Amino acid sequence: MKVIFLGDIVGEPGCRFAAETLSEILPLHQPDLVIANGENATKGRGLSQKTVESLYDAGVEIVTMGNHTWDQREILRFIDSDERIVRPANYPVDTPGRGYTICKVNQRKVLIINVMGRTFLSQLDCPFNAVERILAEHSDICHVIIDMHAEVTSEKLGMGWAFAGKVSAVLGTHTHVPTADATILPGGTAYITDVGMVGPRDGILGMNRTQVIQRMRTQMPTRFEVADGANQFCAVLFELDDETGRAKHIESLNRFEPHQ
Ligand SMILES: [Fe+2]
Ligand SMILES: [Fe+2]
Repeated sequence: MKVIFLGDIVGEPGCRFAAETLSEILPLHQPDLVIANGENATKGRGLSQKTVESLYDAGVEIVTMGNHTWDQREILRFIDSDERIVRPANYPVDTPGRGYTICKVNQRKVLIINVMGRTFLSQLDCPFNAVERILAEHSDICHVIIDMHAEVTSEKLGMGWAFAGKVSAVLGTHTHVPTADATILPGGTAYITDVGMVGPRDGILGMNRTQVIQRMRTQMPTRFEVADGANQFCAVLFELDDETGRAKHIESLNRFEPHQ
């Protein structure tokens, strides 16, 4: 089975560019499953109902989240009922929503897990234990995809190596900067430290660069808005063996519009 996974989609420009690019590449690659990280899809922070519907219309089937999960308060109205949305599994027990979801692809069950790293982020429960617990509850499923939403490269490599040979893919998100290390780890686990971002590339991580630099220079609270201008599309395409769930191939699908 072929899967396309889009890195963090940022704001309305990111959603628009994701839809535009998917309309070109879906017929080309004909993936069986499309997943996207949507934690920044509404105004750079969180996910509204309207935005998530637009992602579904564009061909996204599962949306993973991260540290910005709760930034649009309205998500509390639909995160419990929409099984296509997955927030980090290592949030405390009783947090709304779900940390994993299971969908059917080509008659196979696919388990999609979202976890968040703890370095320079909230001190959630242990992401490694969270994944172990979910895998133990679903030992019948051999197609397992993990979105490891984390700030530092070492923690993502840790997740990749800890579950190499035990899951189909460990894909890093959150930094918005794509890494050039897409690989298959021993045992058949597709891995990349960070998929990157879909959104405005002339900002800083998708946000207005003037505002970000202003905060960096003055250390004063500054409101960040989504940048405009040229966009980038960062995703990975990977292929899993239908029988074993082992990854056979992974490649980056990155597009960068010229700077404006
Ligand atoms: Fe993000
Ligand atoms: Fe994030």
